[in-house]
Amino acid sequence: MRLKSPLISARLILDNLDATALPPQYLAWINDREITRYMEIRFHTQTAGELTDFVANMNESGDNLLLGIFLKQDRRYIGNVKLGPIIAPHRRADMGLFIGDDALWGKGYATEAIELLTAHALGPLGLHRVTAGMYTGNVGSYRAFLRAGYTEDGRLREYWLSDGHWQDEIVLCKLAGATRE
Ligand SMILES: CC(C)(COP(=O)(O)OP(=O)(O)OC[C@H]1O[C@@H](n2cnc3c(N)ncnc32)[C@H](O)[C@@H]1OP(=O)(O)O)[C@@H](O)C(=O)NCCC(=O)NCCS
Repeated sequence: MRLKSPLISARLILDNLDATALPPQYLAWINDREITRYMEIRFHTQTAGELTDFVANMNESGDNLLLGIFLKQDRRYIGNVKLGPIIAPHRRADMGLFIGDDALWGKGYATEAIELLTAHALGPLGLHRVTAGMYTGNVGSYRAFLRAGYTEDGRLREYWLSDGHWQDEIVLCKLAGATRE
């Protein structure tokens, strides 16, 4: 799935990625063990070809929206946010993201990207619910989704084995303001 026009907030632009011209830092980031510490992609080192195929598949998919996160001031690419899979019969989807340059963590960019894509999901896309799941240890992700208006649904105990230690999965969600049939 692709956006017809970019989503824009105070400091960010969310836009489609061109699978044939991916920013080179994307491959470096998803193979960086510090960035992927709480992401499942850490179990497999990606090649450039695999990444191109992944982005092309996302762009062609009818139920996934993968977007690059860009700084509005200079169009610098700083990470990705993904909505999907979208489960159309139940009008819900999952959301996940990364900010690839850790020097940019803690500046509110994740919160802003989540707010922007959630508004698109619960507005123009007509979804009723967006879900975000994360490791208990992923404090930055947890706080960003909370700041973006998500609330906690529950926890799945000892769901992830992370560096030899069990961690719970925290499930957060944001619901549309009103139900529609
Ligand atoms: C998780 C991540 C997306 C957060 O991005 P971010 O831009 O730093 O998030 P924000 O700046 O919006 O931060 C939200 C809050 O979390 C805090 N925070 C961010 N990173 C943190 C960390 N590593 N430890 C503790 N708190 C952190 C921020 O200070 C801010 O706190 P506040 O509510 O008191 O202001 C980013 O750290 C990242 O990309 N991590 C690697 C990939 C990843 O884990 N993705 C999520 C998978 S579910």
